Amino acid sequence: MTQTTSHNLLKGKKGLIFGALDERSIAWRVALACDREGASFTLTNAPIALRFGALDKLAEETGSQVVPCDVTDYKQVQDLIDTAVDKHGKLDFILHAVGMSPNIRKGNDYTRLNYKLLQHTLEISAISLHKVLQACVEKDALNNGASVIALSYIGAQRVFSKYADMNDAKALLESIARNFGSRLGGKGIRVNSVSQGPTKTSAGSGIRGFDAMYDFAEKLSPLGNPTADECADYCVTLFSDLTRKVTMQNLFHDGGFSTNGISEQLIFDLAELSASKEE
Ligand SMILES: NC(=O)c1ccc[n+]([C@@H]2O[C@H](COP(=O)([O-])OP(=O)(O)OC[C@H]3O[C@@H](n4cnc5c(N)ncnc54)[C@H](O)[C@@H]3O)[C@@H](O)[C@H]2O)c1
Repeated sequence: MTQTTSHNLLKGKKGLIFGALDERSIAWRVALACDREGASFTLTNAPIALRFGALDKLAEETGSQVVPCDVTDYKQVQDLIDTAVDKHGKLDFILHAVGMSPNIRKGNDYTRLNYKLLQHTLEISAISLHKVLQACVEKDALNNGASVIALSYIGAQRVFSKYADMNDAKALLESIARNFGSRLGGKGIRVNSVSQGPTKTSAGSGIRGFDAMYDFAEKLSPLGNPTADECADYCVTLFSDLTRKVTMQNLFHDGGFSTNGISEQLIFDLAELSASKEE
């Protein structure tokens, strides 16, 4: 369900949002929710993604500036942080919603990875968080009480075969979030990862077998799969001052998927399948 009422939870806060590609992107929905809650922010994406032009629409709708940045290039990340701080002053929140595996795109199974592409997967999907936070530390770009969220997936803890090297990338991403959370706590800065359930976006749909993973999760999760808008509302609470002592956590936003063993629905479906095989 999409929230339409503002609670002014982010009134006056300034942020930086990575990874809005199109209207389905989780980052896009987070940007709309942050705007609704009174924040202002800079939007950024890779130069090649900006060529589609969709981000200009979001920027117009939310009164934001768009700054290109390939997160694998540290110099571009440093320049981005400078530009965002020039515009807003020090930042109160950052959303890292960046992920891509060239191995998955090429259909390379985990046992047949191309190692050069594995480096790209890790650079884009995990090490980029380190670069963003290191640049922020270097430039003293985060306000006391700031909150940083990186979007993750349960592949960090459990093996999802079609998620290939992204399982490893998410494990590294969550570790980087914890390590920075430990070091930045002294300044009241929170760093957490939010482990979102499967969501129909460009990145999600690019994974072979995504529909099966989506349906399985939908049937196992007592609350059902979370939408991108619901993820956005959760991120708002974590950016707000209501969660000031939450840090170094990997927070599951997955309708209960990560804790449920099996559901009545799955038992029913499996029983039906066995019966149809016996016929
Ligand atoms: N969709 C899901 O099922 C799901 C579930 C859990 C977590 N996530 C995570 O949420 C985040 C956002 O993904 P999404 O599902 O909204 O898909 P998305 O495709 O809309 O977002 C991924 C973004 O990463 C950006 N990106 C890729 N390479 C980049 C680079 N070199 N520099 C800068 N940006 C780059 C893309 O342009 C895109 O905007 C990702 O980290 C993803 O792994 C997604």
